[in-house]
Amino acid sequence: MVQLSKLVIIFVITNQITMEKIQVWDKTFVPFIKNEEIVAAIDRVAEQINRDFKDSDDIPIILCILNGSLLFTSELMQRLNFPCELSCIRISSYAGTKSTGESKVLMGLTMDLSDKRVIVVEDIVDTGKTIIDLSKLLQAAGAKEVKIATLLLKPDVYKGPVKLDYVAMEIPNRFIVGFGLDYDQLGRNYKDIYVLES
Ligand code: IMP
Ligand code: MG
Repeated sequence: MVQLSKLVIIFVITNQITMEKIQVWDKTFVPFIKNEEIVAAIDRVAEQINRDFKDSDDIPIILCILNGSLLFTSELMQRLNFPCELSCIRISSYAGTKSTGESKVLMGLTMDLSDKRVIVVEDIVDTGKTIIDLSKLLQAAGAKEVKIATLLLKPDVYKGPVKLDYVAMEIPNRFIVGFGLDYDQLGRNYKDIYVLES
C-alpha cells in the first residue's frame, strides 16, 4: 500500500514536471494538448484516410507543408496502410504570433503532380490563406484530386471555400506552439502543444 502511494506521488510530480509552463523567446506558454491526445486524434484521422484510399488504383502523393507539418506527417504516414509517395513544399504565412495575410512559397513543388491524387498534410488551418493558395497551385499543376488533412483547425477563424477533408482536432482562436508548430521558429520540438498564456 505504501509502495502504491509512493508511485502515485511520483507519477503526479513527474506529470507536473513534464507539463509545466514553457518560455519561448519573450512569451510564456501553458500546457494545452498532451501528446497522448494528439496521437489518438492522428489515429482517428489515419483510419479515415485508410478507409477512403484502400481501393485506390493510383498511388497518392502525401504532400507535407514544411516546416510545421513535419511531425504530423511523420506520425500520420506511419499509420497509412496503402502505397503512397511523399513530397514536400515549404510555405510560410505567419510572423510572430499573427498571420501576415499572405502565403509565401519558400520551396516550390519538386514533383510532377499532373493527374495525381494528392493528400495535403497541414499542421493548422487558421485564416485558410495557405490552404486556399495551395489548392489553386495544385489545380494549376494538374492534380487529379486534392484532399486536405489538417492536425488542427481554428473554426472561429476559417470560413473559407476549400473543404477540409480530415480534421484531427479543433481549437479556439488562440496562438499555440509545439508538435511542429513554432513561435518565430522556436518551440517545434515539444511533443505536447502549449497555448500562449492570456
Ligand atoms: P493560415 O494560412 O492563416 O491558415 O495559417 C496557416 C499557417 O500559419 C500554419 O501552417 C502555421 O504554420 C501558421 N499558424 C497558424 N496558426 C498558428 C498558431 O497558433 N501557432 C503557430 N503557427 C500557426
Ligand atoms: Mg504551416
